[in-house]
Amino acid sequence: MKHIDIVDIFKNSEYIGTNVTVCGWVRTSRDSKNMAFIELNDGTSLKHLQIVIDKSKLSDISEFMKLGTSLKVCGELVKSAVAVDSVEINAEEITVLGECPAEYPLQKKRHSLEYLRTIPHLRVRTNTFNAVFRVRSVVSASIHEFFQSRHFTYVHTPLITASDCEGAGEMFKVTTIGYSNEYKTEEEYNADDFFGKRAALSVSGQLEGEVAAMALGKIYTFGPSFRAEKSNTPRHVAEFWHVEPEVAFAELPDIIEIAEDMIKHIIRSVLERCPEEMKFFDQHFEKGLIQKLENVVSNDFAVMTYTEAIELLKKADRDFQYPVEWGCDLQTEHEKYISEEICKKPVFLTDYPKEIKSFYMKQNPDGKTVAATDLLVPGVGEIIGCSEREADLDKLLEAMKVRGMSMDEYEHYIALRRFGSVPHSGFGLGLERIILYVTGMQNIRDVILYPRTVGNIY
Ligand code: 4AD
Repeated sequence: MKHIDIVDIFKNSEYIGTNVTVCGWVRTSRDSKNMAFIELNDGTSLKHLQIVIDKSKLSDISEFMKLGTSLKVCGELVKSAVAVDSVEINAEEITVLGECPAEYPLQKKRHSLEYLRTIPHLRVRTNTFNAVFRVRSVVSASIHEFFQSRHFTYVHTPLITASDCEGAGEMFKVTTIGYSNEYKTEEEYNADDFFGKRAALSVSGQLEGEVAAMALGKIYTFGPSFRAEKSNTPRHVAEFWHVEPEVAFAELPDIIEIAEDMIKHIIRSVLERCPEEMKFFDQHFEKGLIQKLENVVSNDFAVMTYTEAIELLKKADRDFQYPVEWGCDLQTEHEKYISEEICKKPVFLTDYPKEIKSFYMKQNPDGKTVAATDLLVPGVGEIIGCSEREADLDKLLEAMKVRGMSMDEYEHYIALRRFGSVPHSGFGLGLERIILYVTGMQNIRDVILYPRTVGNIY
């Protein structure tokens, strides 16, 4: 169907004075005595295109006017009669591509995000989701650009796995047979299953990413990860998109630098390529958002050790719901205090107690902490989990033993430490979390097409 994208209609002044064809859905419509007006949107632009109908030229316009109807419109593109710097089409021919009845759930009024979550198949047609998904697309593209322009190889790690990278036991089982009492043991059941052993959806591509990095030097993965954690919060989904670079010959400060550069590159790209969308988010979701992001790109991120953070939290004139002691896992309220009230900008918290972190992290010489960092940002909390990996075979085996892990399941991972082991580091960025941060949206369910959360699958 030959037509011009509405975004191009707005961008290219050479269309003015020519006959154009556009397609789209009716967003609003207004009828008066001699004229009628339709705001058409085809999804390529946040801005709608006004279609002007001279009722003496086109009769029987009632079908064109219904919200949600899809139309093909031909006519002359002219400068807008009222809006400065805008254009409109004087319609000569309108074809209804798909009718839309009056019970269309998206009416003119502003719907709540909660209501829109109940109609994920239609909410994409609202301005908010139009903006969210364009920003999401630009963020994704900018992530690829960042790594591609720095000699990183994009690798695709398996989604079905036999190992639990984070060791938290929060994996979705992959099976083709239901459990039955005929199996005497779990091992017997697993042996009968598709892979002949227990399999699950991967929580992270890191372990296989390390395999690739030990050959290709610098790699990144960008795909879905799955977590069966029952965290019903505005920051957790069971299926999220995970960006995981892994870098050989990199220690913790090196990977921190890469992470900070990547976040700044993402923000710059969005500010540059999505000005309309960012203005929209600034107006409707987070006042001062653009200024906040401009400050982020032009200043260094803070770096603070976990131990320093604990001291600050203990000194804080604040009644935290969860008490703070060295060794405790930081709760959202603690992370918020550190990033929003102490640092007031993104902060890398480093050197966590080894007991609360994963087996693969490099053990620091103090014997108590690991060379790990989480990037905390005001308003969202943790968006990146990062660490230097334990490259020493004996120390890795010891950490696995302490956690009661099966050496067999991690055979390849362990072997990397036998054959030319090198210092290396990596991190995981949750795509939806960075999108929350750059858009000012509050709930992760509103930045992914179909959110998968506990007790909810559409
Ligand atoms: O801190 P995490 O668990 O780190 C890892 O998975 C490492 N293997 C990454 C690596 O070093 N290659 O997760 C990394 C990030 C978190 O900071 C968060 O942004 C995101 O993944 N994330 C989630 N996002 C949405 N919903 C969830 N349930 C998430 N769990 C983690």
